[in-house]
Amino acid sequence: MDKVGSGRTPIFTILSLFLASALIIQCNTQTNDSQDQETEQQEQATQKAREDTPELADAMGQLQYYTHKYALALEAENHELATFYFHEVRAAADGIKENIPGYEGYDIARFMRLFLDPTIEPVETALANRDWEEARQKTIEMVNSCNSCHNATSHGFVKVTPGFSDNPYNQDFSAPE
Ligand code: HEC
Repeated sequence: MDKVGSGRTPIFTILSLFLASALIIQCNTQTNDSQDQETEQQEQATQKAREDTPELADAMGQLQYYTHKYALALEAENHELATFYFHEVRAAADGIKENIPGYEGYDIARFMRLFLDPTIEPVETALANRDWEEARQKTIEMVNSCNSCHNATSHGFVKVTPGFSDNPYNQDFSAPE
């Protein structure tokens, strides 16, 4: 019995070792495959999110662009042009609230409502009344609110100004006679 037993053991051992390692290899390949699949899916999702979510900096750039053009039209007391650009300022701000409600952990939509929104209507009212001095004052307050929000969202180094009398555009802002 002993002889038979000791004779069998190595074969069994080798066989089970072989089976075990075959099983391990098989399992590993499967896990690797599913891990690869998972990583690929994650990458695809991140890529898609990137494509779907507009960059906040780009949207802010739009907001700055229209704010400056509006300020130049206001300075020129060009009612039609200033009203047109202020409409764009508002649309850009609304677009940010809608399309980029969150960014880097900040509730952007809420911050926009908190800081910027209350400063919009006073500008609109003054503009509608063609009260240029008041509109200018309210515009300065609005731009201050931009900077307050930058401070509140760790971007205090982005300091915007109304940019009155500072025309870098190839555009004549003067009001028609
Ligand atoms: C939610 C609060 C908030 C408000 C209100 C806000 N900003 Fe911003 N702004 C940000 C954040 C956050 C960034 C940084 C974005 C990033 O990191 O991509 C930024 C970035 C910017 C930039 C840098 C991007 C560029 O194109 O140079 C400019 C300019 C800018 N904002 C202008 C404005 C103007 C003008 C206003 C007001 C009319 C305004 N912002 C109001 C939060 C705000």
